[in-house]
Amino acid sequence: MLSDKVQAALNEQINMELTSWYNYLAMSAFCEHRNFRGCAQWLRMQSDEELGHAMKLYNFMQVRHCPVVLSAIASPVTQYESIPAVFKLALAQEEKVSASINALYELALNEKAFAEVVELQWFISEQVEEERTARAIVAKFELIKDDPSALLDMDRELGERRPEPEPGGAA
Ligand code: FEO
Repeated sequence: MLSDKVQAALNEQINMELTSWYNYLAMSAFCEHRNFRGCAQWLRMQSDEELGHAMKLYNFMQVRHCPVVLSAIASPVTQYESIPAVFKLALAQEEKVSASINALYELALNEKAFAEVVELQWFISEQVEEERTARAIVAKFELIKDDPSALLDMDRELGERRPEPEPGGAA
């Protein structure tokens, strides 16, 4: 049986993934409303991925016979300074999630929760990719600044994102 500490931390991580899902959805709505449909599409897809992360942990806890305790999701920010500012916030969010996953991994190791250690390895790799992608987008926006045609190109590029396969769940 998992220790109370590990169970609580896994439930908190589910909340964090759902918070990311909600935040990305709000970011997508903001971009859509400003006719940056490519950005909106990219963010909507990211939002779907976050829901997938939450459900991967949710399914894993059930397989491990741990109670899933869902808690309130904070309201997302709905007004942003600009489209590039949205992606800066996305990167900051990914960095925060990575720190949380790393802390959870350390806790699982300390508590000798070995199955959880293995499960969390997927999340660690996923965060490396998500941070890398968000960082590259932020860097491009910094280069573009206020150049309208480059902004439109960037919107088109982001709109080319296609869904990735569902994360391999434990359920
Ligand atoms: Fe599931 Fe992007 O953190």
